[in-house]
Formats: sequence, structure tokens, C-alpha cells
Amino acid sequence: MSLSLVTPVGEIATQHPLATRVFARHGIDFCCGGGKPLSEACESTGADAQKIIEELEKEIQGSPKDETRWDEAPLESLIEHILTTYHEPLKEELPRIGQMMEKVHRVHGDKDIALFDELLKVVGQVKFDMENHLPKEEQVLFPAILNKMRHMLGGPISVMEAEHEELGEMLRRIRELTNNYVAPEGACNTWIALWAALEKLESDTHEHIHLENNILHKRAFNG
Ligand SMILES: [Fe+2]
Ligand SMILES: [Fe+2]
Repeated sequence: MSLSLVTPVGEIATQHPLATRVFARHGIDFCCGGGKPLSEACESTGADAQKIIEELEKEIQGSPKDETRWDEAPLESLIEHILTTYHEPLKEELPRIGQMMEKVHRVHGDKDIALFDELLKVVGQVKFDMENHLPKEEQVLFPAILNKMRHMLGGPISVMEAEHEELGEMLRRIRELTNNYVAPEGACNTWIALWAALEKLESDTHEHIHLENNILHKRAFNG
């Protein structure tokens, strides 16, 4: 689908669930106001429609495939890559997922109370745990690695890896609860966007944890 100023925002959100990140960022209503063309939706929030199209295209295409050999690149670059590719986006994405989760639970929870209650709980726990996990790496572990304080890395690394394990378990459960992220027929835009965001969270977290467990932590002891 080519994006243009006359494309209805609801249609963009339906065909490209990750585009809803851009809408959320700029307060553009894609749910109830989904029938409005993009230009009109932007006008009502004061956003620059042309800029929004650029952001949408970027979000839809995703980041280019990372071909860097992180087992060989300088440790500083690897840490910088982890921070900019995974940590920074999570600071916007986790609150957004939390809000969508609450909305879907509130509006559609009665369709399967036990399932939505558990999903709300697990997603909330993932958000809480990640928001506590990231600062520990940013403020303690990564600086210690960069300063080559090898004698004190063992403890923090084993704590981080145990937390990765717990996160992986919860993401597996979310995949089950969301039926492999397949939204049911007739699901609303927020529901579809939530499922897409959770799927992206899972795949990003797998890459993120791989870089930390398998490359960063191992290299931290060697140089
Ligand atoms: Fe991390
Ligand atoms: Fe981590």
C-alpha cells in the first residue's frame, strides 16, 4: 500500500500495525477516528503530515538488516548499538504497550475473562521487569564492562542472565495467550496493534538478549 495524505488512518493501522507507533507518538487517533484521511487526522493534532508519512515509511520498512559482526566490533560500539537499537525504543514502546493492553482488557476483556486477566498480568509484569532491568545494565553493568572492571562482573552478569530467562518465559506465555499473535476475525485496530507490538517486542527481545548473553557477556571477560 502506498501512503498518501488521503489514506484513512484506520486503513494504515490495519495494514501496517506497527505504523500505530507513529500515531501514538503524535497523538493521532487511529481507532475511533480511523475513517479520517491522514491529512485531516494530522491537522487536528497539529502534526506535519509530510513528516508523519516519512516516519510511517521508516516504521513500516523496519530497520535495515544488521550485518555487523558484533563478536568483532569494538565493545563500545556493541554497547552503543544495544542502547540505541533496543533500550531507547523500549522507553517509548513499553508504556504504549501497557496503555493498549489496558484498553483492550477494558473493552474486550469480557470475551474471555481468564485469558485477558492473565495477559494483562503477564504483560504488566514484563513491562515492570524490563523497566527495572534496563537501568541496571545502563548504570551498573555496561559502565563496569567499559571500565574493564572484570573482577566485579560475575555477579551482575548472572543476575542479568537470570532476568533474561524469566523474561523469555513470560514472552513464551504471551505468545500462547495471544494465539501466536493472530488476532481474531473482527478484532479492533487497537487489539491488532497490541498483538503486533507484542510480537515485535518478542522478536526484538530475542535479538537483544542474544547480543547480551552470547556476545557482550562473554566478551566482557576477554577484552
Ligand atoms: Fe539490555
Ligand atoms: Fe538485558
